[in-house]
Amino acid sequence: MRAFLLIGHKFSGDVNLNDLAGSGRIDVITRCINAATFLSHNIRRDVLFFAYFPKLYVRLKIDASRVKYLNPDERSTAALIRNAIVNYSPEREIRTSPGFYIKKATLEDILDELESVGKLYYLREDGEDLRTMEIEKDASFVLSDSVNLNDEEEREVMRRAEGIISVGPKSLLSSHVITIIHNELDRRGL
Ligand SMILES: C[S@@+](CC[C@H](N)C(=O)[O-])C[C@H]1O[C@@H](n2cnc3c(N)ncnc32)[C@H](O)[C@@H]1O
Repeated sequence: MRAFLLIGHKFSGDVNLNDLAGSGRIDVITRCINAATFLSHNIRRDVLFFAYFPKLYVRLKIDASRVKYLNPDERSTAALIRNAIVNYSPEREIRTSPGFYIKKATLEDILDELESVGKLYYLREDGEDLRTMEIEKDASFVLSDSVNLNDEEEREVMRRAEGIISVGPKSLLSSHVITIIHNELDRRGL
């Protein structure tokens, strides 16, 4: 199982399907969902994708083994996120469409969930080279959106992280980092 956590700092719950970038950079979130879950004409069923929205204290979980109605285009994925937000309840976790689950959570709660998947790695530009790093088959990866993790978030992640991984010398788009991680683990047969 591979899990990814994206922290969507700018997302405040408003989704305008005609302005995804203006909707708290939901375009970044949808691209990451795409990179985490899609193969060509297929879905990676062994993936969990988490998004944490600190402005809302909400986490979205996508269980790719159960998703239906997920398509590669950004707009329809944003519509599934909007549907999750509309049906959110602070009382309990809600399944808002097949494979989509939303609930109230802190970053700590989500890191607990990630640790139950396997070893946790933090993705950061100045980390250890992915190519020389041992990675477990069951692993979770934490990355940020268009802004870096703040000090407190970073402290919490670092308390649990097995290591910090860099996928290369340049700062890349979050979705591209996910693709590289998948590619490397696929090549290792993990
Ligand atoms: C667009 S970058 C973050 C913003 C960027 N640091 C800046 O100065 O604007 C998005 C996230 O992808 C991950 N990332 C980007 N490049 C990376 C790399 N070379 N290795 C590992 N993770 C990377 C990090 O988690 C980063 O926070």
